[in-house]
Amino acid sequence: MSRIAIFASGSGSNFQAIVDATKAGTLQAKVSLLVCDKQEAKVVDRAKKASIPSFVATPQSFHSKSLYEEAILEKLQEHQVEWIILAGYMRLIGETLLRAYEGKIVNIHPSLLPAFQGKDAIGQALQAGVKETGVTVHFVDEGMDTGPIIAKEQVHIDEQETHESLQKKIQAVEHVLYPKTIQALLTGGNHT
Ligand code: GAR
Repeated sequence: MSRIAIFASGSGSNFQAIVDATKAGTLQAKVSLLVCDKQEAKVVDRAKKASIPSFVATPQSFHSKSLYEEAILEKLQEHQVEWIILAGYMRLIGETLLRAYEGKIVNIHPSLLPAFQGKDAIGQALQAGVKETGVTVHFVDEGMDTGPIIAKEQVHIDEQETHESLQKKIQAVEHVLYPKTIQALLTGGNHT
């Protein structure tokens, strides 16, 4: 069974959806490690509850980004992690991890990329007044929310849409699309 690490910075609802899918057997993978860059993030409690080991460290406590990533890399190797799954990890992945996990790092983003990259993609879509937005799963490269696209799903923006209601709709899509796409990737099958 493939061993995956999830990187997250916040609430961790996608972390939870992935863990739940492994428990249900729809995702045949082992979540071996949580990597989190915020001590107080809710995702840390979720990992504890699910008895998943976590590595929680702020980059600021290291002299450089590469030293921070080397510390992460050591943990990933200790847990024999094969794939890195970014789920609301609000940081750019640097050279150290990109080199060590080339082609094995994926991210989910709450827009139809390349539209609305970076922070608050949901707010950006509302601000732009578009009628369709969505979710994208993609391979990670050195850019922010760039890299080859693996899967996309549209979400319609209604007339009365608020940030909260759109976030709810987008996350509901994410929680199904992400585990499904990861499963397809791990088994080398077709994915849309
Ligand atoms: C998710 O909606 C994810 O798409 C987004 O952060 C949220 C994390 O929610 N990621 C990005 O914006 C990446 N640029 P969660 O902590 O509840 O999973």
